[in-house]
Amino acid sequence: MSKDKLIALLNKGLELEHAARAQYLSHAKVVSGANADSIAARLKEIAGDEQKHEGMFRDCIALLGGVPSIKMAVGHPAVGTEQILQVNLKDEHDATDFYHNILKELEAVKTELQYEYEFVEHRLSDIIAEEQEHASELKVLLAK
Ligand SMILES: [Fe+2]
Ligand SMILES: [Fe+2]
Repeated sequence: MSKDKLIALLNKGLELEHAARAQYLSHAKVVSGANADSIAARLKEIAGDEQKHEGMFRDCIALLGGVPSIKMAVGHPAVGTEQILQVNLKDEHDATDFYHNILKELEAVKTELQYEYEFVEHRLSDIIAEEQEHASELKVLLAK
């Protein structure tokens, strides 16, 4: 594990966030049925959190001397409110799993990152906590 590999993983995270924001904003436009307005409003709020996560990933990448990616991961289309909520719930879980992997890789280069480790660790942990919050909110919406 090297600092370069860590930067590459953080850029994959940034690309996931780009896709998540676009996906939530798209899905917010197509939810239908009862509670459509409140669900759309919540999806837009979550998109705002994903935008904040993009900034946090860019901050980490830049601190480590990398160049933040301008690419986007592949999004997941969905039709109908229930499928939209399920697809995004899975994506939140997948993002959480991937970010836990980045945290493990970060541990492997901790001694190399004497002046950067806590900065990156705190931001990754904050992002993971918010993805877990998103997942729990999506579960509540699914149960309605
Ligand atoms: Fe996110
Ligand atoms: Fe999220």
